[in-house]
Amino acid sequence: MFGTTTIGIDLGTANILVYSKEKGIILNEPSVVALNTHDGTVLAIGQEAKEMIGKTPASISAVRPMKDGVIADFDLTSGLLREIMRRISISGVKKPNVVVCTPTGATSVERRAISDAVKSTGARSVVLIEEPVAAAIGADLPVAEPVANVIVDIGGGTSEIAIISYGGVVSSTSIRTGGDHMDEEIIQYIRKNYNLLIGQSTAERIKMELGYAPIEHVPQTTDIRGRDLLTGLPKTIQISSTEIQSALSETLLRILEAIRNTLELCPPELSGDIVDRGIILSGGGSLLQGFRDWLVQEIDVPVHMAPSPLESVAIGTGRSLVFADKLTKS
Ligand SMILES: Nc1ncnc2c1ncn2[C@@H]1O[C@H](COP(=O)(O)OP(=O)(O)OP(=O)(O)O)[C@@H](O)[C@H]1O
Ligand SMILES: [Mg+2]
Repeated sequence: MFGTTTIGIDLGTANILVYSKEKGIILNEPSVVALNTHDGTVLAIGQEAKEMIGKTPASISAVRPMKDGVIADFDLTSGLLREIMRRISISGVKKPNVVVCTPTGATSVERRAISDAVKSTGARSVVLIEEPVAAAIGADLPVAEPVANVIVDIGGGTSEIAIISYGGVVSSTSIRTGGDHMDEEIIQYIRKNYNLLIGQSTAERIKMELGYAPIEHVPQTTDIRGRDLLTGLPKTIQISSTEIQSALSETLLRILEAIRNTLELCPPELSGDIVDRGIILSGGGSLLQGFRDWLVQEIDVPVHMAPSPLESVAIGTGRSLVFADKLTKS
């Protein structure tokens, strides 16, 4: 319709992306807000705010308003969304129709909060779509056909596994475990074994550089800095990729179990498709080194990466209106 536009928002725990059909991805920022703690004004969002995490004076707080795929702080999330809408200001269009994704495991109250937060930005309409369905559409899977499309989306706060056929979800599992928990496991491991306290950003960097799924690899080491818990002083230690690998294993096994459970729920007529077509990975967590190879070993079906794993959900959310009748829960 003239004067309106539809955008898709992937309101992720770690990253927020906006997709428009005409322009593709128009915004991609970490889901972080920096606030003045005295009066609550928003000082920065996105990358700028993420760089402040763990480094701010008492008068500033840099926080992530989403946790485990859902809203942890409603006002902050609304503030973040308002700032994002201002930045993308689609010229001449005041009120876009918005499609936004939610984890399949979200409760009705959590879904309502996401919808209300988007509405508070002045959206004309808000439609919710389940995150794995969006990921599958964004990864160009033939979701409307009568074949099993298996998508595994490992985000920051959630891991979602879904089997989609004929435009609907045949079976799905959503667990509140993802890349953030891997970071947390690294922090705990280093604290326990080295009495060293490191920050979230350091843990995430170590995960990306040195993290491996439980597969054979050539071990590497790196130096990390933190605060010695015994002396209180700054300290540098050397850590190896095999240590990080062991720290991550519990989280990865939980994800593997969820994948296995979902495949077990698959109707036998569709199981054959999975053997032939395999499963598709999306989400930033699936970029962990060795993750794809490990899954192939463990579940013995082909495993493919989505074309743009970090963008699939946003792209699928924006394109999903075509499938809206069948797929949405509003
Ligand atoms: N190369 C990489 N190796 C390992 N982890 C990575 C890599 N790149 C990104 N990640 C992790 O992926 C996660 C972010 O992924 P993504 O943007 O898909 O999450 P999200 O959609 O915001 O979260 P959710 O879907 O759970 O709400 C972060 O935990 C980040 O550390
Ligand atoms: Mg996500």
